[in-house]
Amino acid sequence: MFKSRIIATGSYVPEKILTNFDLEKMVDTSDEWISERTGIKERRIASKDQSTSDLAYEASKIALKQANIKAKDIDLIIVATVTGDMPVPSTACLLQNHLNAKNAAAFDINAACSGFIYGLAIADSFIKSGMYKRILLVGAEILSKFTDWQDRTTCVLFGDGAGAVILESTDEENGIISTHLYSDGTLWELLNLPGGGSKNPPSKETIEKRLHFLKMRGNETFKVAVRSLESIAVESLKKNNLKPSQLAALIPHQANLRIIQATADRLGLSMDKVVVNIDRYGNTSAASIPIALDEAVRMGRIRKNDYVLLEAFGGGLTWASALIKW
Ligand code: ACO
Repeated sequence: MFKSRIIATGSYVPEKILTNFDLEKMVDTSDEWISERTGIKERRIASKDQSTSDLAYEASKIALKQANIKAKDIDLIIVATVTGDMPVPSTACLLQNHLNAKNAAAFDINAACSGFIYGLAIADSFIKSGMYKRILLVGAEILSKFTDWQDRTTCVLFGDGAGAVILESTDEENGIISTHLYSDGTLWELLNLPGGGSKNPPSKETIEKRLHFLKMRGNETFKVAVRSLESIAVESLKKNNLKPSQLAALIPHQANLRIIQATADRLGLSMDKVVVNIDRYGNTSAASIPIALDEAVRMGRIRKNDYVLLEAFGGGLTWASALIKW
């Protein structure tokens, strides 16, 4: 049976840097609070004229170049995002247009911060079924345009960016070994963006109530995140008869350094195996894992035959993991 393998990665973050010290001038917060509670020092902010498909395009170009293939060689484009350019068409179709990937089908998925791993599971299944051979999977977000810059409990957390991978069908042993997806819709209220959809269509009232911005009950979300991430990491390792010590790298979603450390602790994994870039980018939702993966690959932290575990947690609530033999 065919397996899917990541043959190339790419990432892009906007140039503009917003530091914790900049935020001190905008809301009642401090560098000390943000650093201690989250591990974030700065984040990237897209320019006014950049949209999510632009970020996705930059990351995809790098991945295509690394794979040494043309956009027309891609069979399917999947974009994981909660901050698409517009409700219709999908950001994946806009990306297809930018890239001139004329032979691809294209669609978006929404699993919030878990979106990239959900996308990986979908891409892996399509490749295993034989339906597609070469898939471009992108996690891309411009959260800064959906962030309430008057709400200190959320505005310090998020950032913008995009990461892309190209998956290809292979008959080798290496590749995506297993993916594990979960969601719990009963907890949807912990993290949501209530305005602009069919429930609260845009109106003067929804704007006045600031419903078009992301809302999060951070503390409650934190507790579910720590619990779920530990259990999903253990599940992925158990299913494949691996011990945590056999992992070369853990690439967690970058939501909070304390969550990342708690997961590593519970697995008995030393932090030098954990890829962390939250200090530079904050939480970029679906983009966070592919950006961290791309950086880890480029830094030589992941080599052929290494076991790599990806794991994420986000709105929905959703959580997911993927075990890869590189
Ligand atoms: N600056 C200063 N003080 C602040 C700030 C701030 N930016 N934000 C909150 N506070 C205050 C609160 O008002 C509260 O004050 P009080 O005690 O007087 O009421 C105090 O700090 C503690 O607030 P908590 O919310 O309890 O702080 P906590 O330690 O939980 O940290 C955080 C908050 C960082 C949001 C954390 O809960 C977290 O990371 N949660 C999980 C996030 C997550 O994983 N989300 C899922 C992925 S995101 C996605 O899917 C898009």
